[in-house]
Amino acid sequence: MTRFLDSLEETPREEPSVTAADFVVVANRLPVDRVVGPDGEETWRTSPGGLVAALEPMMRSVHGAWVGWPGQADVELEPFEADGIDLIPVALSADEVADYYEGFANDTIWPLYHDVIAPPQYHREWWEAYVIVNRRFAEAAAAVVAKDGTVWVHDYQLQLVPQMVRELRPDVTIGYFHHIPFPAHGLYAQLPWRDQVLRGLLGADVIGFQRAQDATYFLTAVRRRLRYEVKGAGIAIPDGQGGSRTAVAKAFPISIDTAPYLELAARDDIKARAAEIRASLGNPKRILLGVDRLDYTKGIGHRIKAYGELLEDGRLAVEDVTLIQVASPSRERVDAYAHLRDEIELAVARINGDHDTVGHSAIRYLHQGYPREEMVALYLAADVMLVTALRDGMNLVAKEYIATRTDNHGVLVLSEFTGAADELRQAVRVNPHDIAGLKDAIMEAVEMSPAEQSRRMRALRRRVLDNDVNAWSSSFLAALADVRTR
Ligand code: G6P
Repeated sequence: MTRFLDSLEETPREEPSVTAADFVVVANRLPVDRVVGPDGEETWRTSPGGLVAALEPMMRSVHGAWVGWPGQADVELEPFEADGIDLIPVALSADEVADYYEGFANDTIWPLYHDVIAPPQYHREWWEAYVIVNRRFAEAAAAVVAKDGTVWVHDYQLQLVPQMVRELRPDVTIGYFHHIPFPAHGLYAQLPWRDQVLRGLLGADVIGFQRAQDATYFLTAVRRRLRYEVKGAGIAIPDGQGGSRTAVAKAFPISIDTAPYLELAARDDIKARAAEIRASLGNPKRILLGVDRLDYTKGIGHRIKAYGELLEDGRLAVEDVTLIQVASPSRERVDAYAHLRDEIELAVARINGDHDTVGHSAIRYLHQGYPREEMVALYLAADVMLVTALRDGMNLVAKEYIATRTDNHGVLVLSEFTGAADELRQAVRVNPHDIAGLKDAIMEAVEMSPAEQSRRMRALRRRVLDNDVNAWSSSFLAALADVRTR
């Protein structure tokens, strides 16, 4: 685990020290979740998702504040300081968690923005909760940011916050980064509150997306819905008095902090753990690996189906291969996620029942989250990494696998529907909907010669190491500074 989070666990919480901060991150989650043990003791755990890992290195380099939810309902906490960052908890009631987080964010926006893989639910009371909670986050940020400071808002849970902060604090510079896809206009137009959401986002000076395609879809929606003038990446937003200000919307593909992956991959105990994982599976010739939050966007079912058919067809033998599927629990109270879990677990049990021997398992399924050390050992043990998302903003797992493969071996099978596919051109590309094509891609990866693996992996590594998370945050912040000096 990283230094910032380590120190959170080691140091007792300090008294609130919140003074005006020059730089304020606003995200749905704080970088740590509050966990209360059976005997009532409070501990803090790294919160899920890639956002913390992405922002944490940058937050270490500035003295800033982070506004977010501590991950539990009905918890009112005072601001506290950790490693030079003021953490400002925003409380949500149980009803707000149900309507704003599980409802509007994760059962309306999430499925709509991921190409309606699951049907989005539209409920007016969820929208009302979204507006109320977004205002609470905006007020917390406006209260803590220094005069002429910067507020950087993150992700789909908080799309109204940029405009709300602007109204409260017209002196500050506002950035927004959208970590998930932005949908084509034909889909976006379904949203009953489509104009309000666009206006919310346009409160920012710079609106960042993962892919050029996402930015284009957003600009199209702005032009068609609001009729604002768009020139290149610039949007002229009327100020209501005959003038306008310019906001910029473009792609800033996010990445990972590569240093901890390189360090862990070099450690003898981690290498030994990777060998132990291999041995515990009966030393198969090839280990395939999937690592995802258990989410319907990730194409876990498609991957398992293709793999099961390869065993069925006899193109793979259970003595020779194992698929390790890490599926970390996520959003379990949302119906679509509960159904997905049943579906995946049924599919895994069927394939294992049909193909396992006493000594070999077709799929080792792990419905758990793991610390980074164990993840790196898994990446080192895996000959083939399967990323078969049906739609994914970026997919940082693909980049983590590449960063870890310091020996230049291993093959990445990568869905073309991920943001990562724009950059990681030397991966074996797949359309996960095409099961026959997916099966062939898995076989290509399993059978790839060491020379070809190394040729591809070198190029992939260069790309990931040159474009790490520091490059990402620097380019976003440079774009913000540019707007400011205009
Ligand atoms: C994705 C989103 C993040 C979110 C994460 C985990 O990566 O882009 O905003 O935090 O999933 O989901 P959760 O609902 O547990 O925060």
